Amino acid sequence: MIHVKSEKEIELMRESCKIVRDTLLFVESKIKAGMSTKEVDELVERYIRSCGAYPSCLGYGGFPASACISVNDVVVHGIPDEDTILKDGDIVSVDLCAYKNGYHGDACRTFCIGVVTPEVKQLVKVTEECFFKGIEGLRAGTPLFDIGYKVQKHAESFGYGVIRSYTGHGIGKEMHEDPSVPNYGRLGTGARLKAGTVICVEPMIALGDWRVRLLPDGWGAVTVDGKVAAHYENTLVVREDGVEILTL
Ligand code: MF3
Ligand code: CO
Repeated sequence: MIHVKSEKEIELMRESCKIVRDTLLFVESKIKAGMSTKEVDELVERYIRSCGAYPSCLGYGGFPASACISVNDVVVHGIPDEDTILKDGDIVSVDLCAYKNGYHGDACRTFCIGVVTPEVKQLVKVTEECFFKGIEGLRAGTPLFDIGYKVQKHAESFGYGVIRSYTGHGIGKEMHEDPSVPNYGRLGTGARLKAGTVICVEPMIALGDWRVRLLPDGWGAVTVDGKVAAHYENTLVVREDGVEILTL
């Protein structure tokens, strides 16, 4: 069931989402070649806790860290570790959630480390564009799968693969609520979104084929063809006349 939020709830979610946004800006200012993904995770955990919030990923379904940190061909849910050292030319997605006052916020950015190839740089840029294309025209009454249709159309126009096995989601008291928000779909299909619905739209886009496989750790998902993938996510509220993005 899709839970429509009251203005009071949305006000509380604004705070969790602002913490998520600020944490990502902080990470962006610090992340560089030579750091381990574990060090990045420590920055995230310290920052979120300093805001009086809890890093929702930590312990979620047994996830052992505060952020999902996914380098190059790791698409999502990378477990931070000491041995993964960021190097010039890498792309790294940092996906994190903060929980405060009973509500979660969730967002992800993909950062370029040093100088990346023009091909990879374009993928990162287009993945962000996919988010904004996906929410173009989104307002109360929009069919849910219009989002995925628009994301897919933009990504595939560049020959990229749209990840199918992970999707966006509703969010609120739980990190993952209904509805599931796929990054592919047919125009004019799916439930019509109501004003006050809060969702995470999160395109995950691969340079090559969209197929992924799970790493032996049971969390990280890598592209089967070994090509890199990018991820961009925001939490937003559906409004009568558009959307309010809470994590920007
Ligand atoms: N932020 C992720 C999402 O978009 C959360 C992944 S769950 C975790 O759904 F346990 F891996 F953290
Ligand atoms: Co999410």
